[in-house]
Amino acid sequence: MKNQIRGMRIIVTDTYKDMSKKAATIVASQVNLKPNSILGLATGGTPVGMYKELVEMYNNDEVDFSEVKTFNLDEYYPIERTNDQSYFYYMNDNLFKHVNVLEENINIPNGKAEDIEKESYEYDKNIYNSGGIDLQVLGIGTNGHIGFNEPDIAFESGTHKVKLDSETIEANARFFESIDDVPTEAISMGMKTIMQSKKIVLLANGEGKAKIIEKMLFGEISPNVPASILQLHPHVIVILDREAAKYIEEKIN
Ligand code: F6R
Repeated sequence: MKNQIRGMRIIVTDTYKDMSKKAATIVASQVNLKPNSILGLATGGTPVGMYKELVEMYNNDEVDFSEVKTFNLDEYYPIERTNDQSYFYYMNDNLFKHVNVLEENINIPNGKAEDIEKESYEYDKNIYNSGGIDLQVLGIGTNGHIGFNEPDIAFESGTHKVKLDSETIEANARFFESIDDVPTEAISMGMKTIMQSKKIVLLANGEGKAKIIEKMLFGEISPNVPASILQLHPHVIVILDREAAKYIEEKIN
């Protein structure tokens, strides 16, 4: 089959909007097929358009989130939920306040947890006890991180506290007034947690992601490029816009 590398199917779209629509359709189909789906969710710039599309689909009665349970990939540490830079705030702003996911079904690592080990252990246990993630949405950092699993991460890691890479801090500075305001730590689902998801949809747009997308799909599988481990997952859909697909389009057609 074309556009297929091992367990990864690659879809190249013309624009960011098309990428977002495709991703929203996949998430909505998952929920329509299994109304009590467990969704793994990402933040950052990439999925904003997907959340917009999902809100629109919800408003058009095309999807119902009333039985869905969600687990977010990560949260800065330390951060208050009320801080408008927290991922808790982001999720509420971009999705939760617009749709009918029940509050008790929303899970985001607690950026104020006092005992991080306990928080991490319970986060993973909660995912496990819910039956595991049916569909995990991922973005990708320019350094190949997924969640906040920065290069050289142990592939066997569960949810844990991480130190953010200088590249990640620089990339995320665009959301803050100054680079000094970007938190330097976070709590992130680990690689093991992510790899245990039944299906994964990874989104990337823009030329800035083109090189890392090539490495992720065609490079060696190495903790140096955390996303490269997705080559070993049996069910990944990678949705790219043309710019992010710049170095791979010829190879997949
Ligand atoms: C966000 C996350 C990160 C981002 C990645 C890309 O929850 O886990 O891995 O997906 O940093 O960020 P953007 O989309 O802002 O380029």
